[in-house]
Amino acid sequence: MTRHAHIAGWGMYVPQLVLTNDDLAQRVDTSDEWIRTRTGIVERHIAGPQDTTSTMAIAAGRAALDRADLAPGQIDAIIVATVSGDYVTPSTACLVQAGLGASSAAAFDISAGCSGFIYALSLAHMGIASGQWKTVMVIGAETLSRFTNWQDRNTCVLFGDGAGALVVSAHEEPGGILATRLGADGSGADLLRIPAGGSRQPASAESVTAAQHYFQMDGSAVYRFATRAMPAAVQEVVKAAGLTLQDVDLIIPHQANVRIIEAARKVLGLPEEALFVNIERYGNTSAASIPIALCEAADDQLINDGSHLVLVGFGAGLTWAAAILRWGIPLPARPQRWPYRQWQRLRFALAGIRMRLQRLLHLLARHLPPGN
Ligand code: UT7
Repeated sequence: MTRHAHIAGWGMYVPQLVLTNDDLAQRVDTSDEWIRTRTGIVERHIAGPQDTTSTMAIAAGRAALDRADLAPGQIDAIIVATVSGDYVTPSTACLVQAGLGASSAAAFDISAGCSGFIYALSLAHMGIASGQWKTVMVIGAETLSRFTNWQDRNTCVLFGDGAGALVVSAHEEPGGILATRLGADGSGADLLRIPAGGSRQPASAESVTAAQHYFQMDGSAVYRFATRAMPAAVQEVVKAAGLTLQDVDLIIPHQANVRIIEAARKVLGLPEEALFVNIERYGNTSAASIPIALCEAADDQLINDGSHLVLVGFGAGLTWAAAILRWGIPLPARPQRWPYRQWQRLRFALAGIRMRLQRLLHLLARHLPPGN
């Protein structure tokens, strides 16, 4: 039996606080005009004190489960793509697993820069096609604001925070994820990185003073790489699915810079409406940008049953990735009446209580004398 990996649910979360270009112009030597014309960004959402990468991922994951009408216990694996996890270890995915109460799920993170979400989606595809998993939660989540040097105008105007999640599930019906293409060029590792905090340069008072625990980027070099990598990845993945560009209804590119998207569009010879853009409201949210854009495109009904959709990203590593999907499986009827919503909330609450009880048992076990 061939198992196809279909998108069964989607959800997103962005923090409440909005930082405009004018707000930034009061902090560093920049202007709304420079940021708009060079990047397309107008504002971005920034994490509040209560937001972390895992809390935003959990919120997006709950929304996706809600849309798929699935309970947390039905998830077989949670893959979180992030470069700004809550901790170096454990993985953010494990925190999400606990927060969702997804007690049967394996959980791990993927670090592939802004391409990470498509890398994660590709793994979900392989896990489902091989029969290993039936339902996978794929999340892109970032709190880039905590790794941003707010004195550095080269980077601080670009980034935003947020999370997007997809539920990918196995179905016999053909469609869903048709093909993926992943690539990397590690010789460009220095072009976009956080120098300190890893094993090469552990965090120290000196590294903090020298602002080495923040993103550093050679923007022009990444820009040149992106304008080559994006159109090439789109062409490759479309070909891998045995389709042509004419068959593609919508391309959802990583939202790093509207000029990069525009350059890719011109190389591909496509009309403006062929590429989805929402960078003006969110900035570059790295691994979260593609799932957030996908959620908005789906909610705006820009994607219909049978639509061919290409996701394409590039980022730190250097990495690039593309996926092509045929949208549309019979989604559960979603009655929005109160009993349904209350039932979903109760399911999440019960899952959370169970996970908390398990934590308590871990704690108690630590205090019991050995042998008990
Ligand atoms: O998600 C993947 C990772 N990141 C990216 O994809 C980013 C890719 N790169 C880019 O999007 C663009 O390279 C940037 C938006 C980062 C920069 O745009 P650019 O057109 O490549 O500008 P530039 O780096 O060539 O800098 C042009 C000038 C410089 O001044 P001088 O040296 O010509 O006097 C910069 O110092 O713009 C200056 N500049 C700024 N001016 C006002 C750089 N940042 C700012 C700023 N406000 N925020």
